[in-house]
Amino acid sequence: MNETLERWTTRRAFILAVTGAAVGLGNIWRFPYIAGENGGAVFLLLYVTFVLLLGLPVMMAEIMIGRAGRRSPMQSLGHLAALAGGSRHWRWLGLFGAFTVFCILSFYSVVSGWSIEFLVASVNGNFVGASPAEIGAGFEAFLADPGRMTLNHTFFLFMTMSVVAAGVAKGLEKLNNLLMPLLYLLLLMLAGYAATTDGFGQALAWLFMPDVAAVTPLVVLHAMGHAFFTLAVGACALMAYGAYMPDHQSLPRAAGAVALLDIGVALLAGIAIFSVVFAQGMDPGEGPGLMFVTLPIAFAELPWGALWLSVFFLLLLLATWTSSINLAEPMVATLQGIGLKRGPATAVIAVAVWLVGLLSVFSFSTLAEWRPLAGMNFFDLVTTVPTEIFLPVGGLAIAIFAAWVMPAQSALRALDAGPAGFRAWRVLVRWVSIPLTLVVLVAGLW
Ligand code: PHE
Ligand code: NA
Repeated sequence: MNETLERWTTRRAFILAVTGAAVGLGNIWRFPYIAGENGGAVFLLLYVTFVLLLGLPVMMAEIMIGRAGRRSPMQSLGHLAALAGGSRHWRWLGLFGAFTVFCILSFYSVVSGWSIEFLVASVNGNFVGASPAEIGAGFEAFLADPGRMTLNHTFFLFMTMSVVAAGVAKGLEKLNNLLMPLLYLLLLMLAGYAATTDGFGQALAWLFMPDVAAVTPLVVLHAMGHAFFTLAVGACALMAYGAYMPDHQSLPRAAGAVALLDIGVALLAGIAIFSVVFAQGMDPGEGPGLMFVTLPIAFAELPWGALWLSVFFLLLLLATWTSSINLAEPMVATLQGIGLKRGPATAVIAVAVWLVGLLSVFSFSTLAEWRPLAGMNFFDLVTTVPTEIFLPVGGLAIAIFAAWVMPAQSALRALDAGPAGFRAWRVLVRWVSIPLTLVVLVAGLW
């Protein structure tokens, strides 16, 4: 065991850290726009089902590997594989995860930068009295301005990397302890406010009354990818956090709490967003701009709109901050694993992510016509493929490793739920999660 590795100081700190990783753009930006494009309630039903049958058991698998290995993801995988007499090539799964979070962080930072821009704009009262056409045009103008977008992207990445450089106990934990409770408070206020709008009833119907005819293999694939993304599962990112998990903490209980909090945030955000969308007679299938265009328009016409809008973007920024820290951690841990110090490791990653992020920035202007794959521009590509393919593939490999390869004794101890709990988890992963992920991947891609 690596005694120099830091630990979360309390059980609560671990749950907060994992919740901080889970709750982010996925809940507040991605869930509403993907649900809006994929039939609302049908998507919600599928995604919650996938969270319970795949996301949650695989989340446990991932954290178990980190907790049993107590090393960086690559080293933990290699070490546990060797213990079981298996192939050390399993460690490349850690590298695949680092590549996945690298792709995700590159656009995550850009979109989080949008929320910085919008936070500043709404605090300045820029949306007050603006017409829907003006607000729409303002967003278009912002997307067409790579300079401003780059500035926000740079600022956000700097915020992320300064916390990561400070290390787990000092950096991540303090931040999470402060931000997560604040986030729930703000979100409850927003949802309470949404309940007073005219669109509330329609938003509930849109979110909770599924039209089963809308189910296609592609909708199912989107929902599965989203379940992995929103729980931060499949990229060895939670594996890195698991390495810092204290002894004597039941993993199913911790993971269950995180999944419930994550679904809760998506629901509250969805209710808040769709209430104002419907109150204003707008289109839920608007795409990635949904939140950024419809909310300022909607709030501009509502009492205290500028204040609520500022609260909303502040909330989003805080949530994305704690997630992006988790996205960076496995890359930093990987470089630390090959001997770099934390500071230089963080700097190397920051520069690389920043550069690739520029490709997303320019996808809205200079590079708009560059379509590297299947007619998608770089931004579309990097927001789709890593989430809907890399995460499920990584999650599948993680599940196979935890349920079939690593020593059962280590797995049992790392799950910390007794022999019966362990057997139940293993049956679920072996005979439900693994086959289901395979079937959905194959059906969706085909
Ligand atoms: N779960 C985060 C969100 O919902 C995104 C994320 C994905 C974070 C993968 C870490 C790893 O925004
Ligand atoms: Na999430």
